[in-house]
Amino acid sequence: MKITVVGTGYVGLVSGVCFSEFGFDVTCIDNNKSKITDLQRGKVPIYEDDLERLMTKNMHAGRLFFTSDTGAGVKDADLVFIAVGTPSKSDGSADLSYIYGAVGDLAPHIRKDATLVIKSTVPVGTTRAIKNFLLKKGVDVEVAFNPEFLREGAAVADFLRPDRIILGVESIKAEKALARAYRPLYMLSIPILFTGLETAELSKYAANAFLAMKVTFINEIANLCEKCGADVQEVAHAIGLDKRIGELFLQAGPGYGGSCFPKDTCALSTFAKEFGVETPLVDETIKSNNERRSKMIKKIMDACHNDVKNKNVAVLGVTFKANTDDMRDSPSISIVDYLLKEGARVKIYDPSFSEQAKNIFKGVYWSTTVYDNCNDADIVVILTDWAEFRAVNLRELRRRVRNPLLVDLRNIYTVPEVKATGFVYHSVGRSLLNE
Ligand code: UDX
Repeated sequence: MKITVVGTGYVGLVSGVCFSEFGFDVTCIDNNKSKITDLQRGKVPIYEDDLERLMTKNMHAGRLFFTSDTGAGVKDADLVFIAVGTPSKSDGSADLSYIYGAVGDLAPHIRKDATLVIKSTVPVGTTRAIKNFLLKKGVDVEVAFNPEFLREGAAVADFLRPDRIILGVESIKAEKALARAYRPLYMLSIPILFTGLETAELSKYAANAFLAMKVTFINEIANLCEKCGADVQEVAHAIGLDKRIGELFLQAGPGYGGSCFPKDTCALSTFAKEFGVETPLVDETIKSNNERRSKMIKKIMDACHNDVKNKNVAVLGVTFKANTDDMRDSPSISIVDYLLKEGARVKIYDPSFSEQAKNIFKGVYWSTTVYDNCNDADIVVILTDWAEFRAVNLRELRRRVRNPLLVDLRNIYTVPEVKATGFVYHSVGRSLLNE
């Protein structure tokens, strides 16, 4: 079976590499020629654990190729996956121009007996619309929708060991082709669900919106904990033991970011309205999460008695979450901007050494270790939950700072361990009694 993947971003590249790991011949296409050149040289453009090893292995095995020539990349494929971006437009709806651009480019070349599979997150009805778009061009191929559920930083693991595979199909032919592509997972007893196109499309948005809502819920509970003397970590554990709730995605923090939750919640709300349906819970999730940035800024400013002018602020972690270099919609962007505007001297250490971050933050200093970053600091602010921050020697940190003030927006530490080292400690959802 020959598989082609169009788009070599977080989803496309991981999918292409993992399909080649399943043993299929895979060609990955991108219209960014310099990116393709880097990939052909074995250079991985994204920060994903184990991706480089698998990519190199399968390139050497002669079953993984990269090209910017759509015709050459598509003409022999049995399955063509579209994994290009669907970013938010200013009105919150999904921008489908890249999808239609990719489909238009491949239309003259795709085999008539191939199956075109949309993997990008698209509003309900888009896959069917693409089928009609191709029919108008005289191209009658099977179409399907196969959402991805890849978390950045764990994308390879999530592809090779997913909780389930969802396949939106319209024919036995498409069903058989996709069943064959995912047979290695079937052999691992991973549930494979065949649904209609619209069900598969909506399942992707519903999953992300629910997870975003769950995170936002615990963040709202954290706000209450800070006023009433409860501990949000303990509340999260206490409710998470209920199997109907589950312990994951109940970690209070600065609010969700990334390339998916923000855009998918907005897109869901927008296209639901186009169907004449209101989604108040999703809308409130979006609103609550957006407001959380300013709540976190207030928490930091309150800790500094509203004066950071000429203060040394040591920021630890700026990516939207740990184990990624992705800065898209990261809470750190508005937080660091505000501190700079208030006259703070901001130093940043992020273990990913994200190039995106270096392009976003101007007028800051960059460190290469946690400890260097905290030398002479008047306040240490933790914005991302990198594992290495949990291993930090707080006593060493205490010796290096100029003022022992620590604001931990990811509850990396326990209150007692921090206070034992002499820091004044502010965190999320742990009551004032603990601070
Ligand atoms: C998400 C979905 O998990 C994935 O299935 C989908 O395919 C893409 O979108 P991702 O955006 O990579 O993945 O990150 P995720 O790990 O889901 O975290 C999303 C945001 O929620 C991050 O900002 C993270 O910091 C935040 N989060 C997550 C919390 O604040 N608390 C939690 O308990 C979990």
